[in-house]
Amino acid sequence: MSSHLFEGKDHAAIYQKHRFPPPEELLNIIFSYLEEKKDKPYDFAVDVGCGSGQSTLVLVPHFARVLGTDISEAQIQQAKQTHSSSQVSYSVCPAESLPVEDGSVDLLTAFTAAHWFDIRPFLKELERVLKPGGCVSLSSYTPRMRIHYGGCSEALTEIFKETQAVLNKYANEKLHVLLSGYQEIFDLLPFPDKKRITFQGGEISFTVTGLMGFLQSFSMFQTFKKAQPEAAEALLHQTQARFLETMKVSSLETPLAITLEYVCVLACKTPKEKVAP
Ligand SMILES: C[S@@+](CC[C@H](N)C(=O)[O-])C[C@H]1O[C@@H](n2cnc3c(N)ncnc32)[C@H](O)[C@@H]1O
Repeated sequence: MSSHLFEGKDHAAIYQKHRFPPPEELLNIIFSYLEEKKDKPYDFAVDVGCGSGQSTLVLVPHFARVLGTDISEAQIQQAKQTHSSSQVSYSVCPAESLPVEDGSVDLLTAFTAAHWFDIRPFLKELERVLKPGGCVSLSSYTPRMRIHYGGCSEALTEIFKETQAVLNKYANEKLHVLLSGYQEIFDLLPFPDKKRITFQGGEISFTVTGLMGFLQSFSMFQTFKKAQPEAAEALLHQTQARFLETMKVSSLETPLAITLEYVCVLACKTPKEKVAP
């Protein structure tokens, strides 16, 4: 069953505002892998589960054409409004049934999205759409996050963890795929040429307001808010107040930083001439 957790217009707007594009270090890993496997120029990339398009636009400099796809109409609306380019088109469709021809894709990416897909049908679709020698990158940051601000980084990280622990009760079961570092996806990938990488990302700048917005973009926060709107608001305000108190500041625009742990599964579809008879 597909997960329809990012469908609401409000959620899509929060998402667009508070999520960030994939970091440079992740893009370097993906494009070094692609260069190792495939000669340039690259024609066509598909970013599946593209959300509001942050992860789609970063592909544009490398390809003649880029398609962003998402199951949520509201997310695609946001993407069209905020992350458009003459080389990019967007389509509302499930990851398990993509509107592209057989053997046409040089690189298929899914950033912070593959754990939501119905993995077996998605992998079948991946095998169908990739060119021989085409590559796939399924990557995400994990919920293990560190916050950095002066001498109170540990305390802030702990507060955020406590808030996440409350939200965990509202986590969709599919998040276990992410918590296991995409091991299940890696094991099921039908290409022998594959690898799984985990790494610690560099600092991402935020403000306290921005971090609270990021928190609200979590699917489990939105599930909590649907079930108990007042309790969700209270949790948000309590987290914010604890942050300001610990940081000994009053401005919500005070800058801080976060670091995230990333996982990336990469694979290359075996070119026909290399398939054993
Ligand atoms: C956490 S967001 C990631 C968005 C974007 N790639 C990014 O990095 O910011 C996950 C996205 O996957 C989409 N999604 C979930 N299940 C899907 C499916 N089966 N097919 C296509 N998209 C799906 C959701 O609608 C959501 O927009």
